Amino acid sequence: MKKLISSIFIFITCTLYLPLCFAGEGMWLPIFLKSLNEAEMQEMGMKMSAEDIYSVNKGSLKDAIVHFGGFCTGEVISDQGLLLTNHHCGYSAIQSHTTLENNYIKDGFWAASHKHELANPGLYAKFIVRIEDVSKQALKGVNNKMDEAARQSQIDQNLNELKKQARLNQFEEIDFKPFFKGNQYFSIVTVTYPDVRLVGAPPEMIGKFGSDTDNWVWPRHTGDFAIFRIYANANNEPAEYSEDNVPYKPKHHLPISMDGVAPDDFTLVFGFPGRTNEYLPSYAISQIVDVLNPAKIAIRDAALKIVDTEMRADPQVKIQYASKFARIANYWKKWIGESQGIQATDGIGRKQKLEAEFLAKLKKNPKQNAQYGKLLPEFKSLYAEIEDYALMSDYYSEIVGRNIEIMRGASYLRNLVNRYESNGERAYDDYKQRLISRYFDGFYKNYRSEIDQKVFAKLMNLYHQNAKFDIAAPLKPELFMINAQPDEAGFMALAKVRFENTILADKEVLYKTLSMPPAKAIEKIKNDGLFQLASKLTEAYNENVAKEYSKINDKISKNQRLYMKALMEVFPEKRFYPDANSTLRVTYGKVDGYQPRDAVTYTPVTYVDGIIEKHVEGDYEFHVPQRLRNLHALKDYGPYADETGKVPVCFIGTNHTTGGNSGSPAVDAHGNLIGLNFDRAWEGTMSDYNYDASICRNIMVDVRYILFIVDKFAGAKHLIDEMTLVNPKAD
Ligand code: ARG
Ligand code: ASP
Repeated sequence: MKKLISSIFIFITCTLYLPLCFAGEGMWLPIFLKSLNEAEMQEMGMKMSAEDIYSVNKGSLKDAIVHFGGFCTGEVISDQGLLLTNHHCGYSAIQSHTTLENNYIKDGFWAASHKHELANPGLYAKFIVRIEDVSKQALKGVNNKMDEAARQSQIDQNLNELKKQARLNQFEEIDFKPFFKGNQYFSIVTVTYPDVRLVGAPPEMIGKFGSDTDNWVWPRHTGDFAIFRIYANANNEPAEYSEDNVPYKPKHHLPISMDGVAPDDFTLVFGFPGRTNEYLPSYAISQIVDVLNPAKIAIRDAALKIVDTEMRADPQVKIQYASKFARIANYWKKWIGESQGIQATDGIGRKQKLEAEFLAKLKKNPKQNAQYGKLLPEFKSLYAEIEDYALMSDYYSEIVGRNIEIMRGASYLRNLVNRYESNGERAYDDYKQRLISRYFDGFYKNYRSEIDQKVFAKLMNLYHQNAKFDIAAPLKPELFMINAQPDEAGFMALAKVRFENTILADKEVLYKTLSMPPAKAIEKIKNDGLFQLASKLTEAYNENVAKEYSKINDKISKNQRLYMKALMEVFPEKRFYPDANSTLRVTYGKVDGYQPRDAVTYTPVTYVDGIIEKHVEGDYEFHVPQRLRNLHALKDYGPYADETGKVPVCFIGTNHTTGGNSGSPAVDAHGNLIGLNFDRAWEGTMSDYNYDASICRNIMVDVRYILFIVDKFAGAKHLIDEMTLVNPKAD
């Protein structure tokens, strides 16, 4: 009976209030599952309670989930701290141990025993201890008449007070985050383990199979996983790397289901989604599709073509640039899919429809109308006002901040100069040490000035051609060109002079400069031609674009905060979830295929047979390792095949995920691991703005493929023996 009532309830809510109620949409706060989601989840087949997923009183799923290095998710899969995440999340770590002789990227890596596991300074695993709603205290004394700066300073003061009062155990830290655009605040208590070692990774031709061609694409055949281990001191407490550390004993580790998935099976993905923007007005979405995405795509297009050519020509360059290339290509491709997806699902029209409904509701309620009636017209004029600034800001951050590599080094040197000038030698020394160990040491290992110069010439030319000089006249590059035309050849000539004579060109020269007495070093830096060029660009940007951009942005944020509040008040019957903000979230859905285009239907599971179909001898994206082809030919699958005798590789579901969810576990109705989230299907990458259950799919590696690779391909059976394998469907 209870079930019947709840299903009627869900049917009614979802039928009446369709726009915000798709099965699958939502990144939910674990502390509100009981009140908002539990009934629906159980209706969809879940056999757990909300308490089994998140509890502060007993071990729950959340105790197996970590924020991996702050940029991905990982999960504990053995009682000895074994940690599963994506190959692409562990890529930098794997790469850092890689040389031409020990090529762990190419050949994979499997530690034969604990003492062979490799330390990764800087990498950490952060557990969530508890999350609490502190909105009342955080927003005390705040009102809508305040300007944004005053508001923020009141909130900061309140949060400081809360921090002082917080009762924390040793090793616990507390953090506060705004939710629902700053209408609510939550405190998050965490414990961070800083000793995380690399245990195993498949060769890139498995872990990154299909590379950039298949990235964001379904059907997919990538074994995107890597295995780490969390280490602790003898008391199981967080400790910096030490030989004496021992494997961490978790409160909970995920059992692993050997039974696999079938279409319509319930799936839950638990992790740390980074950033979404689901409550933007239609004006913002049009700007993204018509103006900002095309500009960013064109910039990366140009940079990627250059790097790709160089990587194909030289295997050393390929090692040096592979990770950087993948990072740039990743969002380049995502933006293309995103814009197309918004168009395909009429994302703008849907927002407009919601806005029309919103206005209609306001009309019937004079009080709300007085409070919120101006929000949409204001959005309209603010987005018109910000357009050129937003465009210039994207240009600046893409070109100067990202694609021209040497610019980052130059901007760190600027910070160094600033520190020296405002805080003296001690501050200078501290910062210098950090710069060297955390940035420059790694930077030069993978840097080719001649490639960077080509990128510089190409992108500066693009910048020059497309800049909005009415707001950014001082950015005109010809102002600091030396006897050259502002075209690609001119910028190349400029690069030759500036890049080749800079102290940043060469690690030894830079380090020699930095070892001089500070006053001398600073003088040398300030006289450096490339440093001056970078500084001019930055100063001109800060003065002429950034200031005004951030002023308008503040107004937009305030409007957005009120709009969020208004939506929640005007549509009280709708369930709202907060935008992703790198905090722990639950998303749930089901295993499901989709129809990307007319007459094309995708089924939800891929198999090893499909890997073999994609094999291209010698290809850098699609060459299948001989050993895997042999196992396939002999059907030597061990216990990892499904009931039809095939090994599944990847599957898709309707879970609402985003960047940061990579490495998140997908669990079944009972909380057993069934898959490892790593991507989304291209047609649905607009889910960050506009989730649509018809085409938004997350992509997971089937855990049986992971086990198959670990056991049969790599021969690392000892790792399987650590895990807890279960058969929930049979039992
Ligand atoms: N698209 C996935 C995510 O956003 C995977 C990226 C890594 N793979 C790659 N080929 N670049 O992060
Ligand atoms: N691949 C993404 C990640 O690295 C996940 C996604 O955007 O769907 O987090």
